Amino acid sequence: MKGLVLSGGKGTRLRPLTYTGAKQLVPVANKPVLFYALEDLAEAGITEIGIVISPETGEQVKQEVGDGSNFGARFTYIMQPQPLGIAHGIKIAQDFLGGDPFILFLGDNFIRGGIVAQVNAFRAQAMDAQIILYEMRDPSSMGVAVLNGEGRVEKVVEKPKQFISPYAVIGIYMFGPSVFDAVNNIQPSARGELEITDTIQYLVDKGLNVRAHKLTDAWVDTGRIGDMLEANRLVLDVIPPRHDGIVENSVLEGRVVLEAGACVKNSKIRGPAIIGQRTVVENAFVGPYTSIHKDCLVRHCEIEHSIVLENSRLEDLPTRVADSLIGRNVQIHRAEGPTKTVRLMLGDFSQVGL
Ligand code: DAU
Repeated sequence: MKGLVLSGGKGTRLRPLTYTGAKQLVPVANKPVLFYALEDLAEAGITEIGIVISPETGEQVKQEVGDGSNFGARFTYIMQPQPLGIAHGIKIAQDFLGGDPFILFLGDNFIRGGIVAQVNAFRAQAMDAQIILYEMRDPSSMGVAVLNGEGRVEKVVEKPKQFISPYAVIGIYMFGPSVFDAVNNIQPSARGELEITDTIQYLVDKGLNVRAHKLTDAWVDTGRIGDMLEANRLVLDVIPPRHDGIVENSVLEGRVVLEAGACVKNSKIRGPAIIGQRTVVENAFVGPYTSIHKDCLVRHCEIEHSIVLENSRLEDLPTRVADSLIGRNVQIHRAEGPTKTVRLMLGDFSQVGL
């Protein structure tokens, strides 16, 4: 079995971060979300993996991810010139995939329990496709599956306007070679994409064997800030504590990871939290569910339930930072002058809560 990981697309919902970086490289507990997908595949014994990239962020993805040797796998990069849809990603990977069954893993999807059980179920039975369903109160921002009385997939609809079923179709799919007939025959949707949901519907309409596996463990589509923070919580909740940094006159409570060269002085860190390589935390409070990436400075301020990307500085802040996603090379500090003033220089699509 091969793997196909989609790491192209536009990432509009995570702007402004995605103006300068791929959304699949935004870190969860200081590790790009894409790495969790690649690790899940390797854990399930899938080591021949194609990675679909875009002209805008492809080089960055290649640099971060490498040739696969760090994952015990072999990666082949496949350029998608335009984001013409998830099914288009399958179409352009046809030569790489050959006639083998494969797993399609969307690079921004995070699944807590890995995929070994689902891959084993797919391998054990002759199926044309297996989709994984996640029950939600409101799945309207996802592909949604309707099941019949026997639990078979009857209908799959992309982002339905009206409630049709509580089952979101998560971004991890398993296909046999009959999927190529589907992706080569479906038409672009109203938004101009070859939809994965239309691909699955095509297989269902042909009477092929499409099975659904209901997921009981946690899953997150990390497309938005709240979802990134949720994935971050899920990982930090189980992260093994490790102190490879320097601690001076500070209190570390609960699960705390200090990466190599991190330095915590006169501060309190209440885990679960991770402090990246060479990051300095001084006279500060870092609260639960916070990931601070490498080469940052957190001084004279309080932060919790947040993700900070590399090389950013938070200094002398009069209020606690919470529920935030802060990009690379960001500087936040107290403005000089009248106390009730804020001085901002924010990129397009930035969001500030005061
Ligand atoms: O996360 C699950 C959902 O993913 C499914 O329930 C939906 O049926 C499916 O269409 C998809 O919806 P999204 O709106 O979340 O898809 P998005 O455009 O965010 O793309 C998902 C991933 O695939 C993302 O990592 C970018 C990548 N991608 C996307 C497109 C459209 C590509 O590499 N190329 C593309 O052309």
